[in-house]
Amino acid sequence: MAENEIEIRGLRKSFGENEVLRGIDLDVARGEVVCVIGPSGSGKSTLLRCVNLLEEPSAGRIFVGGTEVTDLDVDIDAVRRRIGMVFQQFNLFPHVTVTENLTLPQRRVLKRGRAGAASVARENLERVGLADKAGAYPAQLSGGQQQRVAIARALAMNPEVMLFDEPTSALDPELVGEVLAVMRMLAAEGMTMMVVTHEMSFAREVADRVVFMDEGAIVEQGPAEQVVGSPRHERTRNFLNRILDPAAAEDPGSTAAGNGHASSGSGKESGSGSGRETG
Ligand SMILES: Nc1ncnc2c1ncn2[C@@H]1O[C@H](COP(=O)(O)OP(=O)(O)O)[C@@H](O)[C@H]1O
Ligand SMILES: [Mg+2]
Repeated sequence: MAENEIEIRGLRKSFGENEVLRGIDLDVARGEVVCVIGPSGSGKSTLLRCVNLLEEPSAGRIFVGGTEVTDLDVDIDAVRRRIGMVFQQFNLFPHVTVTENLTLPQRRVLKRGRAGAASVARENLERVGLADKAGAYPAQLSGGQQQRVAIARALAMNPEVMLFDEPTSALDPELVGEVLAVMRMLAAEGMTMMVVTHEMSFAREVADRVVFMDEGAIVEQGPAEQVVGSPRHERTRNFLNRILDPAAAEDPGSTAAGNGHASSGSGKESGSGSGRETG
């Protein structure tokens, strides 16, 4: 079906005895931005990784752009080419320049020629505001700049869909905004995006829909103002209270668990979208 870019039906995934995804049904429309939130270990990364077949589902079906990626005869490489993925750890190639980080996958996977790949690389570095870093090595860049390179590298492959797995969680707080700004631009351009994030103000501002997962299942989903602003389920409320206001969480010793990603503001779940990115 053309209008849904991603369709997930009855998705289950077990690691040994551990059932990590327990029947996920989710559609993402073309051009839609879906933010996935939920506690650590709830299966968010596994869900994203199943969509581009970094993990093999135990059961269920997944369609991307109308192609069943869980079909046994599918060309996995062709599927992955259509899906860009950005990880918490930027996963750049450390030993080559920023430009080569963008050109090597194009040349290897898409068989683009040297000049063509270089021109696409330039274009995408400009998009993320890093044209001046083309000749730098990853270690010479800040974490925020490295993550923007990782996004540019994914974009250089002309994906139909972008998957982001906690793209700002490894960043110092002052570098989060520049990465979210690039993601906001992509959303505005109409990119279909699934974003696992703890940045609630980003979710409120950019997401068309927020999905709350717990223990391998979708507990609730809807517009951000509903799920984040007035969640229906106790588990969602507890989670949001923990990340928005760690100091008020049940266990006062565990405030480090959120790793500082909560809003620095007053942040109850009914707060006015105050978040810490300054974008
Ligand atoms: N490759 C793996 N092998 C075994 N268990 C895994 C693997 N990947 C994830 N898990 C387990 O699956 C559960 C969900 O993990 P994950 O999808 O990473 O959750 P989240 O991203 O929401 O924190 C966790 O219990 C985790 O330990
Ligand atoms: Mg994860």
